[in-house]
Amino acid sequence: MKNLFLYCRAGYEKDCAAEIQQRAGELGIGGFVKANNDDAFVVFQGFADDDGDRLAKDLPLDSLVFARQMFACGDLISDLPPEDRVSPISAALAGVERAGELRVETPDTNEAKELSAFCRKFTVPLRQALKKQGSLLDKEHARRPIIHVCFVGSGKAFVGYSLSNNSSPHYMGIPRLKFPSDAPSRSTLKLDEAFIHFIPREEHEIRLRSGLNAVDLGACPGGWTYQLVRRGMMVQAIDNGPMNEKLMDSGQVTHHRADGFKFEPLKRNVYWLVCDMVEKPARVAELMEHWAIQGWFKEAIFNLKLPMKSRYKEVSQILANMHAILKENGIHEFHLACKHLYHDRDEVTVHLWLRPSSPWI
Ligand SMILES: C[S@@+](CC[C@H](N)C(=O)[O-])C[C@H]1O[C@@H](n2cnc3c(N)ncnc32)[C@H](O)[C@@H]1O
Repeated sequence: MKNLFLYCRAGYEKDCAAEIQQRAGELGIGGFVKANNDDAFVVFQGFADDDGDRLAKDLPLDSLVFARQMFACGDLISDLPPEDRVSPISAALAGVERAGELRVETPDTNEAKELSAFCRKFTVPLRQALKKQGSLLDKEHARRPIIHVCFVGSGKAFVGYSLSNNSSPHYMGIPRLKFPSDAPSRSTLKLDEAFIHFIPREEHEIRLRSGLNAVDLGACPGGWTYQLVRRGMMVQAIDNGPMNEKLMDSGQVTHHRADGFKFEPLKRNVYWLVCDMVEKPARVAELMEHWAIQGWFKEAIFNLKLPMKSRYKEVSQILANMHAILKENGIHEFHLACKHLYHDRDEVTVHLWLRPSSPWI
């Protein structure tokens, strides 16, 4: 397939477009991007017939900041006849063999979401047809490709596939998280999503285990601290504001009324550093670098507030800088990743893991 379809947050199409253009170029793949404001998706149109296939395979989704999900696809199929939308879509997927799952989706916009009920209903006959032509296996299979049909309007869809080892496991790339009724703030979902996104599930038991020590910079009222406490960690919460009382009653939280830019941990026993201070992104990045160079944490999750313009450029510069500064300071073993998560608005979330060879602590 020639093209790559990418889902993003509405309003971030230009950033997603700038990113895919640059990253495809780095892989020697030329093309151009079609993106409209507030569509919540962009399409990279390759020049060669297999450019979309190559990108779906060779460009790690995890390395993209602004894309939630991506799949190789053909050109837009429009004017789908209401009496038979199944046949043209099945025909467009004839080249896909033995996929393990079918997802009929929409972009994440209010207008497109009105098609959700239709998508659910339409999945049933489409699934039957795709099984019949051998594009879809009889039983779901987690390691086979995923077929995506994305309705961008009634009678208009992009269709294609993603590879299960290089795509989001979530429908439309959006994890469905439940807001815990006793959490002190909605921000709690940002850290919950970050843990799910950045830490493989099979490693939660080790890297998010009970008893680890954590520092939360800019903690109040306590939404992020709540996620750490919930996992059984001991938390030093740094903020001049008031912390949620119930969280303090847990006995797992020490509240320091201090400046997060000046606070220093007394003991070298901090595993998690998290930071949600509303500050200039370069200043937050500098603080994280300082903590990393001092060896004050093993893993960090922090937010970078986004500027109004050139957001991709700004984020990539900060990450490249951080990379260089860590290396210059003798830190060679680390993992740095950044994502515009579903629960992020005008910010991105960064994960920095100062990975020891073994074991984790
Ligand atoms: C977006 S809120 C954090 C919300 C929190 N993560 C939650 O889930 O409830 C930002 C917090 O950072 C704190 N903050 C901003 N600058 C700070 C600084 N220099 N030192 C400590 N806290 C700071 C603010 O007081 C505010 O409570």
